[in-house]
Amino acid sequence: MTTPLPNYTPYKNLPPLAGLCSFEEAMKPGLSIEECTTRLKRIHYAFKRLHEILTARVTSEPIYELKTAFAHHAHLCAEHATAIRQRVSEMREPPLGLDEVPHPALEVFFDEIRAAPNVEFVAGIQVSLDMLDDAIDQYIWHTHRLTDRPSIRLLRFAAIEVDDMRDYFNIALSTLDEDNSTREWQDDLIAFLRIAGGISGLSKSSNEPIVRRYSITPYHYDPVPQRDERFTDLWNQGVNAEAFLYSPEFTAKDKVLMMLYKRLREIDVPEMMASILAETPGKPWGYYRDMSRQIWDEARHSMMGEVGFVALGVDWTQARITWNWSHRLNTECTPLERHGVLFFIEQGLMPKTGKRYEYEVATDSGLPLAKTIQDFDWADEVLHAQIGREWYVKQFGSLQEALDFGDKAWSKITSNWASVKEQGLTEHENWWPVLYKQACVAANVEPDAKALEYATTYEGRRADRKSN
Ligand SMILES: [Fe+2]
Ligand SMILES: [Fe+2]
Repeated sequence: MTTPLPNYTPYKNLPPLAGLCSFEEAMKPGLSIEECTTRLKRIHYAFKRLHEILTARVTSEPIYELKTAFAHHAHLCAEHATAIRQRVSEMREPPLGLDEVPHPALEVFFDEIRAAPNVEFVAGIQVSLDMLDDAIDQYIWHTHRLTDRPSIRLLRFAAIEVDDMRDYFNIALSTLDEDNSTREWQDDLIAFLRIAGGISGLSKSSNEPIVRRYSITPYHYDPVPQRDERFTDLWNQGVNAEAFLYSPEFTAKDKVLMMLYKRLREIDVPEMMASILAETPGKPWGYYRDMSRQIWDEARHSMMGEVGFVALGVDWTQARITWNWSHRLNTECTPLERHGVLFFIEQGLMPKTGKRYEYEVATDSGLPLAKTIQDFDWADEVLHAQIGREWYVKQFGSLQEALDFGDKAWSKITSNWASVKEQGLTEHENWWPVLYKQACVAANVEPDAKALEYATTYEGRRADRKSN
């Protein structure tokens, strides 16, 4: 056996090997490229499936806190899947084979979570994140600390966010499942992973039979948005927020309330965009990644509205955070038409009257938080216009054709003002005065008489002509 060089020290005792590890560690052989790519592909598969599953649930999850968290976590999973795809492509690995299923039981594991109802879904995500965390830790532990440093680097970043997600789901599960009723279900899921040899495939896989529970019937994406009980009167179109916002008759401070309403109502955008992703298979990975970023942004915009209302002493449940837009687009348009409508609306936000105007109103209001919110909302919207040009417009011969298609799809959604009223779904109640008065009380100011009287509705408008 060869004896290593004795007493080898770095120059002036500086940290050796760029500070990555000791010579003792670096002199041990590590995993092969083949072993690394096999494991990375399995970790990638987990991120990809989690991204897909969480995105699809954004629409039908009723609880607002979970809905927005799913949008966030789906985005994180898409980002880590992207980084791993890039890394695998650097490891002499053409063709990439990143879209293959690593093991049938691993597929069933995620299919089962995707099909699980309510709290079982949360429990399933929780257990999958624990297992994913283990797979990442094992990879970092086993691979060579110097030769495979690029993989270690990106997995360390991934581990930070997987830990954040685990924290979230641990708390969510303990809140929603006080009596631990999902324990057995989690054990069933772990059994699938055992058959698959774990997420990373390190343990021996087995030939035990795979018996599906929730995913026996083929998966069907549910396009109908759901909301929790704080959201009432969901077809209400009784307060035209845009007409107020663009009217010269009202103060910037009062307009901020309508802007916050518009922000919070944006929860319908992730609900709608999730349907585009769920029903548009076969696109390049970059499509799903970019669209997921936008879904998360729109969920964030909605939460900015929520925060704004709380900060101004307003109970937002007094407003009617409707689902008219997402419900109708998801059930009456094709995925491409939905994308067209989204692009058509977002294009309209870029000129003077759009996001710049909203930012100026926020600035004039003297409410620093409103300014912060609109500043970032505007920046995000510029990014969304770019995403639209990249992934929507390029499917058409020209920008004009793409806009025309969106406009036409949007016209398909004719006003349902009268029909929802006739069906007894809403009275289009004017919720504004109650909300406005509450804000005035909290700010200790007298309501403006004209603002208090505001009663312009969406009657005769295209399904609430709105901005995202
Ligand atoms: Fe947007
Ligand atoms: Fe937005």
